[in-house]
Amino acid sequence: MPLSIIPHPHPTLRVCSRPIRKVDAQLKRIVSEMLDLMYQAEGVGLAANQVNLPLRIFVANPSGNREDGEELVLINPEIQSPKGNETAQEGCLSLPGIYGNVKRPRTIKVSAYDLRGNSIEREVDGFLARVIQHENDHLNGVMFFDRMSDESKRDIDDRIDELETVFRSKQASGGIPSDQDLLAELEQWYHTYC
Ligand code: NI
Repeated sequence: MPLSIIPHPHPTLRVCSRPIRKVDAQLKRIVSEMLDLMYQAEGVGLAANQVNLPLRIFVANPSGNREDGEELVLINPEIQSPKGNETAQEGCLSLPGIYGNVKRPRTIKVSAYDLRGNSIEREVDGFLARVIQHENDHLNGVMFFDRMSDESKRDIDDRIDELETVFRSKQASGGIPSDQDLLAELEQWYHTYC
């Protein structure tokens, strides 16, 4: 089945994703689909649990354009040495059209693996550091609005509630499985990768 981007409040967005043990053909196909979905949606990053796969991997390109910028595929990323602070607007492909200010460290070190199994170790700052932190949060079940101040979040609370109402009413009418059934569907990935 082709992958698709799941919306908030799909329960997979809240799981703690599992480390990836090996890069195989299946993972490469997943990455290629994730990149297609990210560019189609005009996003700058997409984490695996946003396509309903609870795996520690995300794709990013701060330019949002396949032809430009730097395309990143980070496997089992870890963030260290946060420095400084910066507040800027963020959005998320799981909450289309909703944006809010988030304060984050300005500079971080990220270590990860790429698709060839090479280790990556980099210090990044500015927008790229923000994108990496936002995507890394997804792997831990954290959404950007969790990190917003109460005051800023108040401006988007109604829009978030609306998304939740739509999702819950689809569950009530049987159009979307219950949270329990959605989470049960993830088990196959745990067995494949862990
Ligand atoms: Ni996001």
